[in-house]
Amino acid sequence: MTDLRIQKITSLDLPELAPYRTMRRPLEHERQGIFVAEGEKVVRRLLESRFEVVSVLLPEKHLEAFRPLLEARPEKITVFLADKKLLEQLIGFSMYQGQLAVGKIPPPASLDDILSKSPKPLLLVAVDALTSAENLGALVRNCVAFGVQALIVGETSSSPFLRRAVRNSMGTILQLPVVELGSRRGELHESLTSRMKLGTRVTRPSETLAQTLQKLRARGVRCIAAHPHANGKTISQADFSGDCCIVFGSEGDGISALVLEACDEAVAIPMPPTVDSLNVGAAAAVFLYEVSRQRGHP
Ligand SMILES: C[S@@+](CC[C@H](N)C(=O)[O-])C[C@H]1O[C@@H](n2cnc3c(N)ncnc32)[C@H](O)[C@@H]1O
Repeated sequence: MTDLRIQKITSLDLPELAPYRTMRRPLEHERQGIFVAEGEKVVRRLLESRFEVVSVLLPEKHLEAFRPLLEARPEKITVFLADKKLLEQLIGFSMYQGQLAVGKIPPPASLDDILSKSPKPLLLVAVDALTSAENLGALVRNCVAFGVQALIVGETSSSPFLRRAVRNSMGTILQLPVVELGSRRGELHESLTSRMKLGTRVTRPSETLAQTLQKLRARGVRCIAAHPHANGKTISQADFSGDCCIVFGSEGDGISALVLEACDEAVAIPMPPTVDSLNVGAAAAVFLYEVSRQRGHP
């Protein structure tokens, strides 16, 4: 049964508006286990998903378009209505569309469940130290487009639930199981919880990405580092037909030595010597297309 509360706002002071006021401080959202969806398509995808929705903030003219989706939700949702000017004042920057929503980050997926329940051959992606939210979002979008079964987020990577990552994924992050290996986020957040008594979700760094890759290999999953400077196989020589996990690295340093060592092999997309590398999102699209091609998907 829908429990929809519609509230016109004329002031920015309500405590429930705090997530919108802190859009430029995404780590606070992460610590609270929430994320912000931005734009018509992404808000729509959130409302269509199984993710819990906390609130929605819209210019009034968009309410009717969203009403059927809002009324179909099982949880209690507050819809705040504000004119676009007030809304931009609230969030601190100008927006093209003006639709926003706050959802709850789901608990991390279990790698054991993914390994035992997903159809074979497995296709997993891992990221090592990927910190650009935009690039992470683009990579997530590619993962969903090519049927990746789970994204493993290394302990030094950003969260794919940062606002810009959610936006760049076009909301596809809502379709992808995410295994978060904890991180400085966990530590940061533990020290803050004890000091500030914030209500939070804890992602303890119980295992590093290198350790997880070794575990995957022990379970028969081939771990393949996407590495522009690999001098072994090029992408067309690599075999992606069996269970595999493709590992992508950071914008500046690429894949760390420890993570490279934990992989079975490193594979490059050939490039002329005058180009260092591709953007990680572009590299992911090329790799995942090749996996699809080798597996005979149209
Ligand atoms: C911008 S690149 C990193 C460049 C970094 N200077 C390096 O030396 O690895 C980011 C990531 O995209 C992937 N990538 C980019 N170009 C690639 C290529 N030509 N072959 C394989 N992977 C590539 C890799 O995973 C890489 O770590």
